[in-house]
Amino acid sequence: MIVLGIETSCDETGVALYDSEKGLLSDCLYSQVEIHAKFGGVIPELASRDHVRKILPLIEEVVSSARIAQSDIGGIAYTAGPGLVGALLVGASLGRALGMALNVPTLGVHHMEGHLLAPMLEPEPPAFPFIALLVSGGHTQLVRVDEIGCYKVLGESLDDAAGEAFDKVGKMLGLEYPGGPNVAREALKGDPKRFCFPRPMTNRPGLDFSFSGLKTHTRTTIKEIENDKGSLSAKDVADVARAFEEAVVQTLLLKCKRALQQTGMKRLVIAGGVSANLRLRELLQTEMCDAGQRVFYAQLRYCTDNGAMIAYAGCQRLMAGQSDDLVINARPRWSLESLKPLARAGLQG
Ligand code: KG4
Ligand code: ZN
Repeated sequence: MIVLGIETSCDETGVALYDSEKGLLSDCLYSQVEIHAKFGGVIPELASRDHVRKILPLIEEVVSSARIAQSDIGGIAYTAGPGLVGALLVGASLGRALGMALNVPTLGVHHMEGHLLAPMLEPEPPAFPFIALLVSGGHTQLVRVDEIGCYKVLGESLDDAAGEAFDKVGKMLGLEYPGGPNVAREALKGDPKRFCFPRPMTNRPGLDFSFSGLKTHTRTTIKEIENDKGSLSAKDVADVARAFEEAVVQTLLLKCKRALQQTGMKRLVIAGGVSANLRLRELLQTEMCDAGQRVFYAQLRYCTDNGAMIAYAGCQRLMAGQSDDLVINARPRWSLESLKPLARAGLQG
């Protein structure tokens, strides 16, 4: 079955074609980052309008670069949530309309399930069961994954998501939106010995996260430097970025180790935009390998939002007989745990 995947939950228009037999046929991504950068964050109305402009040309592009006919598409998967409601509605209504026009089933996919399954697109995908660390702009969760659709959230952020904290610290340091990749780029030049920032919630049991204290600590450090010298030098920016990144990745590492230990699992999957962080990937790789465990992640382009992960997740569910009813699904809030396992075919809950 060839499935067209559509992702429009936030500020990236992603479209892809996944073939259950041949794998990923083609994928295209248009990032709105330039539109939102001047506002320092995503403006929902501008995001929706731009998805409307870009979605049809992108679909035409993936179909032509995969060298298939539109009539070869056997199903359509679109991100139904969580995300910005206006942005979601663009992909959902286009997906449903195209499904009707082509007379094929459609399915609303959970954005975080898409992220979680993105490492399945790699040549050596993880076997079930595993622990997944989902780290994006909106979510930080540790999830026990027994099979597709069988998810138990073991811990999550009580305040900011990891990506959100990166973005806010980026702003404090005067870096462009989105902060994550820019903070990571600055951190590479930073002195690891100059500051040691606190590792939040690591000295108490449990698998929850909190990044607001670390954010405040970062703001206080920046203020102290400004009081002292008037403004931050390039070196100050790099050193603060380095200390912040290290505190986040060490905290994530500790919680991942704890989750693996508590469940006796040996496989860890990291997914979502922050899983593109090279320091996080490197640290987990080394630590997991030393402990006889294995870490899996998607290639960089499939860590952040993309259509391929939605096409893949949708394909698994559509092949199991799941599809939408006549309702257009857009769910800004949607619990991962409410999804149904593949085995129980039927509508998603
Ligand atoms: O998964 P994603 O593309 O969108 C959401 O579902 O939220 O994640 C975007 C988040 C942003 O907060 C961005 O700053 C962060 O992922 N991010 C990174 C890196 N690349 C993207 N954070 C840290 N280091 C990176 N290299
Ligand atoms: Zn995402």
